[in-house]
Amino acid sequence: MRMRKKILLGTVVSATLALAYGFVVHQPPAQADGPKNLQVLPGSTSEDEVRQLMQEMSRALGEACDFCHDDDNMAKDTPKKEEARDMMRMTRAINNRHLSDSNSEVTCMTCHRGETTPTQ
Ligand code: HEC
Ligand code: HEC
Repeated sequence: MRMRKKILLGTVVSATLALAYGFVVHQPPAQADGPKNLQVLPGSTSEDEVRQLMQEMSRALGEACDFCHDDDNMAKDTPKKEEARDMMRMTRAINNRHLSDSNSEVTCMTCHRGETTPTQ
């Protein structure tokens, strides 16, 4: 029952999230004036799409941008950013490998629900 609730929460996703969490297989080259250092999201993701997704991730973890970023340089990597990338890959794997035949999709919010460390 509990798990079902979590999964239902995860079905409320925007097109941007769908892009990030599973449906993109192909990695086009980075754009000249777009994001500079995308390693998980497709290189073609626009600045606007990245920002929308980042707002979702911040909300899911209940933290501001500087939890993961050096405010002076968003493209710079930090340990938290690397951890978030791992989580993005994990989320994508769950959706692509295990939920592809279902109408459910997990997002950061499915587990985190506003906290950095999900609690039981
Ligand atoms: C939980 C960690 C986390 C939070 C919080 C977060 N970001 Fe990010 N951000 C990332 C990761 C990881 C990437 C790189 C994604 C990739 O490699 O595909 C990234 C990439 C970006 C980029 C692209 C930088 C470039 O040029 O490559 C921008 C812009 C950005 N974030 C803005 C924001 C903003 C604005 C916020 C707050 C609303 C925010 N982020 C909150 C983890 C985070
Ligand atoms: C299947 C459940 C699940 C999903 C989905 C998930 N996470 Fe996590 N995440 C966890 C758990 C559990 C931990 C704590 C791991 C630990 O303590 O070792 C964690 C830890 C983290 C941390 C480290 C927090 C800290 O305090 O250092 C970051 C950053 C993070 N997740 C980001 C994300 C982002 C961004 C997404 C979506 C792309 C995401 N997570 C999706 C379960 C999940």
